[in-house]
Amino acid sequence: MKLILLGPPGAGKGTQAKMLVEEFSIPQISTGDILRAAVKDGTPMGKKAKEYMNTGGLVPDEVVVGIVRDRLQEEDCNNGFILDGFPRTVAQADALQASLQEMSKELDRVISLEVDAEALVERLTGRRTCKECGRGYHVKFDPPREAGICDVCGGTLFQRDDDQEETIRKRLQVYSEQTAPLISYYREAGVLMELDGMQPIPIVKEKILSLLQAS
Ligand code: AP5
Ligand code: MG
Repeated sequence: MKLILLGPPGAGKGTQAKMLVEEFSIPQISTGDILRAAVKDGTPMGKKAKEYMNTGGLVPDEVVVGIVRDRLQEEDCNNGFILDGFPRTVAQADALQASLQEMSKELDRVISLEVDAEALVERLTGRRTCKECGRGYHVKFDPPREAGICDVCGGTLFQRDDDQEETIRKRLQVYSEQTAPLISYYREAGVLMELDGMQPIPIVKEKILSLLQAS
């Protein structure tokens, strides 16, 4: 299963990708997670990426294209992968196509999660993530049993630096200008599946699974 989860910030890409990892035993490749780890470790790439991320802009194409090209060569991608947050520009989508061709691989599906802008703001301002295991929560829609503590590993929950309302609005604008064109890009390629992402998390999951099974 070689899959892209497409959708605006807060659409549920990360939430659904983590569930699909368990379902299909294939890795989630989140460029956002990889970049945040680089920022945290203070690597040269992380230092460069930080300013783009904190202001809600996109990290330059050549940086993320290189990350994904290398990641796709790793052995755990042999049976498939879930791309979460990549590609985000037409140039990235073209580069992905070229990398897959070099490896004689083909994309199976692109699932586009559709969610209203105001719901996205509410989801992102209420998002919390575990520092230890990366499990995502929402203070209202998916709260942990104990506030601030991860149900799975007991780690502390934190709020992402870019989940402030002003930065969220900028990210949404960047999405409509630079990433939304990928919907027609993949529709024309015949691999797009559009899904109503406004429903509760378990229902979105079931819908994704039935779409994948039907195809
Ligand atoms: P990235 O980390 O990819 O952030 P994003 O695309 O803005 O997406 P999010 O992670 O915010 O949203 P999500 O769809 O994963 O939602 P989630 O499942 O967490 O990128 C961050 C930054 O890195 C970018 O701004 C850019 O600077 C840089 N970057 C990354 N990739 C790049 C690339 N390819 N090119 C250039 N730059 C790049 O859900 C959100 C919340 O909602 C959670 O609290 C969750 O519990 C809740 N929720 C989820 N589903 C539902 C539901 N169905 N109902 C109710 N609540 C829900
Ligand atoms: Mg995410």
